[in-house]
Amino acid sequence: MEKVGLFTPIKINTLELKNRMMMSPAFSNSAAPGGFVTDWTLRHYQKRAAAGVGLVMVEHTSVNGYYIHGGNRLQVSTDQHIPGLARLAKVIKDAGAKAGLQIAHSIHGVGLKPEDLPKRVIMEMIQEFIQGARRAYEAGFDVVELHFAHTYTMADMLSRRTNRRLDEYGGDVYGRMRAHQEIILGIREMMGRDVPLFAVISADEFIIGGNTLKQTRIIAQELEKCGIDCLDVTAGVRFDDGGLKGYSDLRGKPTVEYPDGPNVYLAEDIKKYVTIPVITRGKLGNPEFAASVIEQGRADMIAMIRPLLADDKWVKKVQAGRPELIKICMACNNCLYKRRHPDDPIKCMERECAQCLTCLRNCPYHLPFINENGVLEFGNEWCDECGMCAGICPAHVVRFHANPQYDWVADQVAPAVQGLKSKDLRAVVIACASGPYRCDDKFLADGLAHNVALIRVPCPGRVETLQMLCILELGVDGILVAGCRLEENPECKFRHHHPWAARRVARANEILQEVVLTRKVIEEVELTGLQVLELSGLTRDFISRLRAHKEDGGSR
Ligand SMILES: Cc1cc2nc3c(=O)[nH]c(=O)nc-3n(C[C@H](O)[C@H](O)[C@H](O)COP(=O)(O)O)c2cc1C
Ligand code: SF4
Ligand code: SF4
Ligand code: SF4
Repeated sequence: MEKVGLFTPIKINTLELKNRMMMSPAFSNSAAPGGFVTDWTLRHYQKRAAAGVGLVMVEHTSVNGYYIHGGNRLQVSTDQHIPGLARLAKVIKDAGAKAGLQIAHSIHGVGLKPEDLPKRVIMEMIQEFIQGARRAYEAGFDVVELHFAHTYTMADMLSRRTNRRLDEYGGDVYGRMRAHQEIILGIREMMGRDVPLFAVISADEFIIGGNTLKQTRIIAQELEKCGIDCLDVTAGVRFDDGGLKGYSDLRGKPTVEYPDGPNVYLAEDIKKYVTIPVITRGKLGNPEFAASVIEQGRADMIAMIRPLLADDKWVKKVQAGRPELIKICMACNNCLYKRRHPDDPIKCMERECAQCLTCLRNCPYHLPFINENGVLEFGNEWCDECGMCAGICPAHVVRFHANPQYDWVADQVAPAVQGLKSKDLRAVVIACASGPYRCDDKFLADGLAHNVALIRVPCPGRVETLQMLCILELGVDGILVAGCRLEENPECKFRHHHPWAARRVARANEILQEVVLTRKVIEEVELTGLQVLELSGLTRDFISRLRAHKEDGGSR
């Protein structure tokens, strides 16, 4: 049997996709007043369609002009929206992808709960979904996705936590999904059995009293029976206890602390209960991991958005066999939380502080804090300069040299170099705190402390090229950067930074060659846990090379 992978085509009802990757629907905050498509909307989707995803699922688009979630949302609430949406479907399809439209309704946006809705409003909402789907297909979308998840009306109706209705649209799980079934049957009646129709469900709401797999398995089976062709399985994003950035929200947009694909297990579980294809989402930007999800049959497709915001050419680079060129999404969620102005469209904002407080959680003394003006401060007077915050900040905004209170080279490396007894040949070894640095006792025992300054860092990947050059300016003859062998420690929270160590070392040597030196004076080694004690031997060899180099007359 042919091996199924990310680039294997898939057919869902009449929809033929060239690969298994979907641009996950994501609010772009780009609609014009009234919910109309803008040029920005067109460019945003066209770019990602052109870069190779099989299916572009356009964001949450409201079927009603009043029950609408905040921000500049697209609408499909009137026939006047059809021409703009038709342009959008066309640019996506012309760029080589299939086009989908996610349609939604939000009472949360106007502060209501399911039990507040008169039955008349529910009947109207069902019709609005049916009409919204009709308009989407008329506009040329290949597929419609019904938004039955997160903090929107249909999820409120499905959830055992929020649906407190006493009529036939509430009660047990079957009552709570009656409106959903009526929507699907209505769309099928109007559009026929051949139009591809997806639904997105939260397999686990990750909120006290909310739906878990126990309810969602039944919901998934019933949706399939009703005529849904594919289930897009998401998680969390309920704002009704922790709010934005609460646990439920973060489970849906997993941040830097979560492993790859923390919600794949949910799709995998749902897949056992249905026969239709299942899509999984959430932190799938590591191409190797994403491929494994499909290859191992844990889901039929993957959906992603933040990796495509960080690098719209993600798919192209994976297809070309150049995953190392991908601009990695740091899962900082700055794209969502850190817009400069509420009307700015969504885009990757990786290099701005997201106020995610990851630094606070990782600082041994809990020093960083948000001040009364909403700006992050570091409480520098108590800081012992361990560098944990700089090492973990997903937005890379905490930098040793950018902090006027703390210049890493001047404050930590220079005194160590000045303390070296040898005036003959001196070197600096920069070692990962949780890896090679553990060799420090052996270093002393082997007498290396005489001419080698061993510097502890949270991750050598965080040491900048410029900093390496500044260390040479202190008068040392060479630098050895010692990191961990990544395969040994796949859980390392700095693993995204780690590959930068080798690249920065290479770049620093390149610069040195361009100006004066012809030989490498900065080297990089990666050690497994068992090899850590070999660091002193490797340092000795490094020093011998430096000495030979010096005697050769190649000094600066
Ligand atoms: C800026 C932003 C907007 C989002 N808007 C939607 C949306 O409109 N509809 C939806 O189903 N999910 C939405 N999501 C959730 C994403 O589709 C996706 O499930 C989540 O971000 C996890 O996937 P990722 O790790 O690939 O970003 C949004 C996520 C982000 C970051
Ligand atoms: S802002 Fe952060 S989470 Fe958003 S796309 Fe960029 S790196 Fe990823
Ligand atoms: S400095 Fe970095 S880790 Fe700290 S809150 Fe800002 S983005 Fe988060
Ligand atoms: S350098 Fe260390 S002590 Fe200082 S703020 Fe960062 S994590 Fe906290």
